[in-house]
Amino acid sequence: MTIEQKTRIAEFLDLAGAYLRSGYKNQTIAYQFADDESAAPVAVEQAAPQVSAATEQAAPQAPLPESQPEVITQPDEHSAAISNDEAGMDTLEAIAADVAVCTACPLHTTRTNTVPGEGVSSPLVLVIGEGPGENEDKSGRPFVGEAGQLLDKMLASINLSRETNCFIANVVKCRPPHNRDPLPEEIAACAPLLTRQIALLKPRVILCAGRVATQALVKTTNSVKNLHGHFIECAKIPLFPMYHPSALLHDPSLKRPTWDDLKTLRARLDKLAALKV
Ligand code: URA
Ligand code: SF4
Repeated sequence: MTIEQKTRIAEFLDLAGAYLRSGYKNQTIAYQFADDESAAPVAVEQAAPQVSAATEQAAPQAPLPESQPEVITQPDEHSAAISNDEAGMDTLEAIAADVAVCTACPLHTTRTNTVPGEGVSSPLVLVIGEGPGENEDKSGRPFVGEAGQLLDKMLASINLSRETNCFIANVVKCRPPHNRDPLPEEIAACAPLLTRQIALLKPRVILCAGRVATQALVKTTNSVKNLHGHFIECAKIPLFPMYHPSALLHDPSLKRPTWDDLKTLRARLDKLAALKV
């Protein structure tokens, strides 16, 4: 058995055990195996999986990630509130209240309103975008501008909506000035809030809209061009990268592949429904 195989199996067993004991939130232990078959594994200190801020630019890479990506969760002392989710006491209202007063990153200084997200409390699909734009900052609601209206149409085409079976959130909850990409440190600071949303909402699928959300949730610097339309099977919740609706507005040739992706997503949701899992 290769070192890679041993490591994957050890990590999987840890993850499965932690999940059975305590549900979604858990710590993982990294293992280092010696090359030789008989060597005992050595556990090494490693942070729990976390919403990562991918810093490297996406280099040309293979169409699919080589290793299993993870959904990640790890606050640090500079990051946003992680209050009462530990004991299963968290609520959408509590998260929104923490977002409203959050000053964990510099984006709080330029926001008009925070945008915690909106939708149903037990969604089939959690859509995660990049961050609020101008309209969202003005209204305090996610995806309400032109891209948001297109997102609503795309979701409606496969019988999804924020009113009935989705929740819509963003990687950062405050608008980056001039709609620039959120910085890695802003994504990291905001990650505990997104982690709380994922842990509370327990969606069946996470739809990652665009590069920022995809790279923050999938441990990769691979591009959406390579990753879109394929489920990334995480420990608990499958991730489904998709082109951002604003990319479709800029480049209509992306509409056709995105429609195919939406059908793939619908087929997966139908399968889950048929299996009643
Ligand atoms: N784009 C995003 O990524 N999120 C929004 O909420 C709006 C536009
Ligand atoms: Fe807090 Fe997130 Fe807003 Fe930064 S973007 S201030 S971490 S809520």
